[in-house]
Amino acid sequence: MPTKLYIQDVAVRDGFQIESQFIPTEQKIHLINSLSHTGLAKIEVTSFSSPKAIPALADAEKVMRAIERVKGVEYAVLVPNLKGCERALACEVDEINLVMSASQSHSLANLRMTPDQSIKEFSEIAKLVGNSASINVSLSTAFGCPFDGDIPQEQVLTYIQKITDLGISKISLCDTTGVANPRQVERLVHAVVNRWPDLVITAHFHNTRGMGLANVMAALNAGVTHFDASLGGLGGCPFAPGASGNVCTEDMVHMLQAMGYDTGVNLTDLLSCANELESILGRALPGQVIKAGPSTRRYPMPTGDGQQRLSGVNLCEVNPTR
Ligand code: COA
Ligand code: ZN
Repeated sequence: MPTKLYIQDVAVRDGFQIESQFIPTEQKIHLINSLSHTGLAKIEVTSFSSPKAIPALADAEKVMRAIERVKGVEYAVLVPNLKGCERALACEVDEINLVMSASQSHSLANLRMTPDQSIKEFSEIAKLVGNSASINVSLSTAFGCPFDGDIPQEQVLTYIQKITDLGISKISLCDTTGVANPRQVERLVHAVVNRWPDLVITAHFHNTRGMGLANVMAALNAGVTHFDASLGGLGGCPFAPGASGNVCTEDMVHMLQAMGYDTGVNLTDLLSCANELESILGRALPGQVIKAGPSTRRYPMPTGDGQQRLSGVNLCEVNPTR
């Protein structure tokens, strides 16, 4: 059983991209700098998509150029096409995370390209990137599409074959709208690992239907060691109806550490980033550990003679980070 796991936080990309209110550039930079000191392996900083498609991340260059880069942390960006790749390379990113869909309809809605057109574009991009950055491909709707429904596993494997044929060795299996279930995750990951044992697979789940952490466990048991998650459980694709938050990073780290896995992440520091994110957005986020505190938290015994009902416990009071 591998015990070392690699976590990428995607809140400032997958999360901020669906916020209706533009998050000020300075606040994005401050949060990324805070995240850089938590022990995360990777941060998805922004996206070099068309600013018309994703106005929330129109400040991609400014953010990428202003963050403090901490040694040992990889800084990745989402890229949909050649133009995005040129912009990303000009900012000297560590990783270009190319995005495509495993389904026709989501691909057209999100990228205005068919999956095969994306593959063609990626072949140009791979030549352009050369050794300047590493390349990962995020395969959206790998477990189902909000327009096309079920996606046959063979279709997903066919695109993975086309991606690996380009010499790309890192792929994220993305459950864009939170439809995957643990059995399906186990089946797909086993099929991919059996066929491409050297491929670096990242699992990217959304918790839209409450199956996120169960899917993390299924992927882990099938051999995945790289996981995407989003601070506070923020996230969602603006071009996929019904999409909502990713698996919450601090909840996932809390679970994995409680099970004895080494994520490299300092949970207390991560919770303070989640607090920072809640104050940026001015609302509570779906994460659970930020509300309840870690499972190691102990409370003083109630004083007095008889049994006392603990009603109306103020969750803000029990949260040590607030
Ligand atoms: N960055 C900046 N500008 C871009 C761009 C990029 N990556 N790609 C295209 N553009 C510009 C073009 O220069 C052109 O500008 P103009 O109107 O001033 O001439 C305009 O956008 C339209 O270009 P076109 O090639 O026709 O693109 P499109 O309108 O068909 O959009 C995508 C295609 C892929 C760029 C766009 O759909 C996109 O960015 N999608 C990403 C969506 C996303 O990030 N989703 C969330 C992640 S899951
Ligand atoms: Zn996502």
